[in-house]
Amino acid sequence: MALQVSQLPKNVGVQVYGFDPMNLSAADISQFQTLFNDNSVILIRNISLSPEKHLELTKALGEPGIHPVATGRLEGYPEILVPKPYGLAISEDPEEIVGRIPWHADLTFTTSPPRGALLRAVEIPAEGGQTGFIDTARVYSELDASLKQRIQSLQAVHRMVYGQRQLGFDVDKQQAAEVSKRFPDVTQPLVQTDPESGVVSLNISPLFLEYIVDMESGESRALLKELQTIATQEQYVYWHEWQQDDLVIWNNYRTLHCAAGHPQKFPRTMHRTTLESREPMGKLLAA
Ligand code: SIN
Repeated sequence: MALQVSQLPKNVGVQVYGFDPMNLSAADISQFQTLFNDNSVILIRNISLSPEKHLELTKALGEPGIHPVATGRLEGYPEILVPKPYGLAISEDPEEIVGRIPWHADLTFTTSPPRGALLRAVEIPAEGGQTGFIDTARVYSELDASLKQRIQSLQAVHRMVYGQRQLGFDVDKQQAAEVSKRFPDVTQPLVQTDPESGVVSLNISPLFLEYIVDMESGESRALLKELQTIATQEQYVYWHEWQQDDLVIWNNYRTLHCAAGHPQKFPRTMHRTTLESREPMGKLLAA
């Protein structure tokens, strides 16, 4: 029987029912792949996955990648991230909110951002810990025609150091130079077409996107602010309230996400795999 689906709030994607990872037919896998291409987010609840099954499910969509800046990995499974909460200086205060991450698409400061991610809730905090999602294909499709035309061929510079500073890290000049050596500045088109599905999206990643190429800095800042304000309007934002054993899969070529954070007295453990890019989406700025 075909997988059953229902729409998630804000039309950000679908919840899939009847998904038995131990027993997926070729037709189920094909439907799963289509759902991935057609949606920003897929939610599957009550899916208790061993690390092997998590990887197997990832392989149904593509090649699991090794995240280049993981804060934690599952022992014996380098492809499975167990992110440590970061984003703020962590104090001893148990009430301090940790793990807040602003809106972003993953790894846009590289030429080959991943196609997506599969994030599973292993342990959820008693408070907080939500993840926000925005379907940037929908945002793009609803932009004014004049704004679409204005941004159509613009390129934007994405930088890891810019992201680290926004996360509150104190990155000095020497550290910035080291990071930039490892992750040189990259340009990505502001309007991006997913090579697999042909879906067009607004390609902003506010955590990493610093400026628009060949645009005066004030104008660039104003345009980025305008686009970010449009994209983060309430009508587009779905906040996922995690339940244990939820699996959320996002298509990174058409999704912005952010983490709300949670009081550090409540642990939050997530397991995440990343889908390797099949072709570069961006270019080195210097190239
Ligand atoms: C992320 O931003 O990649 C993590 C999202 C989350 O843990 O809620």
